[in-house]
Amino acid sequence: MLVLGIETSCDETGIALFDGEHGILAEALYSQVEMHAQYGGVVPELASRDHIKRVATLVNQVLQEAGKNFKDLQGIAYTCGPGLAGALMVGAGFGRALAFSLEIPAIGVHHMEGHLLAPLLGPANETTQSKIEMPFVALLVSGGHTQLIQANRIGDYELMGESIDDAAGEAFDKSAKMLGLKYPGGPEIARLAIKGDSKRFRFPRPMTDRPGLDFSFSGLKTHTRNAIQTLAESNRELPNGLPSGEQQTLANFHYLSEQDRADIACAFEDAVADTLYIKCRRAMEQSGLTQLVMAGGVSANVKLRKTLENKLNAEVFYAPNHLCTDNGAMIAFAGHERLVAGQFEDLHIEVHPRWDMTTLQALKPTQFK
Ligand code: KG4
Ligand code: ZN
Repeated sequence: MLVLGIETSCDETGIALFDGEHGILAEALYSQVEMHAQYGGVVPELASRDHIKRVATLVNQVLQEAGKNFKDLQGIAYTCGPGLAGALMVGAGFGRALAFSLEIPAIGVHHMEGHLLAPLLGPANETTQSKIEMPFVALLVSGGHTQLIQANRIGDYELMGESIDDAAGEAFDKSAKMLGLKYPGGPEIARLAIKGDSKRFRFPRPMTDRPGLDFSFSGLKTHTRNAIQTLAESNRELPNGLPSGEQQTLANFHYLSEQDRADIACAFEDAVADTLYIKCRRAMEQSGLTQLVMAGGVSANVKLRKTLENKLNAEVFYAPNHLCTDNGAMIAFAGHERLVAGQFEDLHIEVHPRWDMTTLQALKPTQFK
């Protein structure tokens, strides 16, 4: 089945064509990062308007690239939550209307299910795909979510633990901002941390000293702020310290050397990777399962990948980098699995800005490969 995937939940317009036999045929991604950078965060109204500008052009582009036309499409999958309501409406409205005009089925996809299934995407990733078997433990680490899930089968997900405050990606982004790095902060911190001395600072591993699988990352952000403030004060030798307040916090990095910043980035990254590892180890023990599938933007982090691969007593899987962050292929694939199982939406267009993944409809065991 040839499925068009449309992702517009936040600040990236992701479009892809996925075919059950041949895998991803074409992909296109437009990032709005630069447009939002001047405002210091994603502006929802601007995001929606920009998706409107890009979506049709990118759909034409992937069709052309794959040598297909609208008549070849057999299904359309669009992200219908969670995410920014207006941004979701663009993809959902476009996708649903296009499916109606072509008289083909459409399916609304949960963005995090898209991430979760991305490591199974074939056939480019065929070897990995054929090794992954449900049930497995999934570590979902993105800008909006940090969750440990037991994935029993497609659509049957049990929440094992989640962040009680900031998501891991959010902590990367906020700490990066304090270090004077641009958004998205994860790759920037990773780049800087390579030059860092991992022994100079040790940040805590939040919530690892008590039982359970929940996370808390907001304390690490505070730790980053304090480390920067302390160094800034000592570098400037101010008797009464630097003035406080958010503006000053964001200016403090100017008083740090490149090595100071790299050492802090390194301590922060180590703490996130180690904390996630400790919780994953517990999740594997608790579930008795042997495979960990990690997904979402933060799963592109090399230190996290290495920590899990080297220390965890489990097989660790993740998608290629461009399928870890938001993209249209993961939506096309998740939608494909549901469409071939006979699921589809009726005619009305619905989005779910907040949406619990454990409430999804599960596919029957016989409904997927
Ligand atoms: O999954 P994603 O593209 O979007 C959401 O659904 O949120 O994740 C984006 C998040 C951002 O917070 C970004 O800083 C983080 O993923 N990220 C990384 C890396 N690449 C992206 N974090 C750490 N290391 C990376 N290499
Ligand atoms: Zn995402």
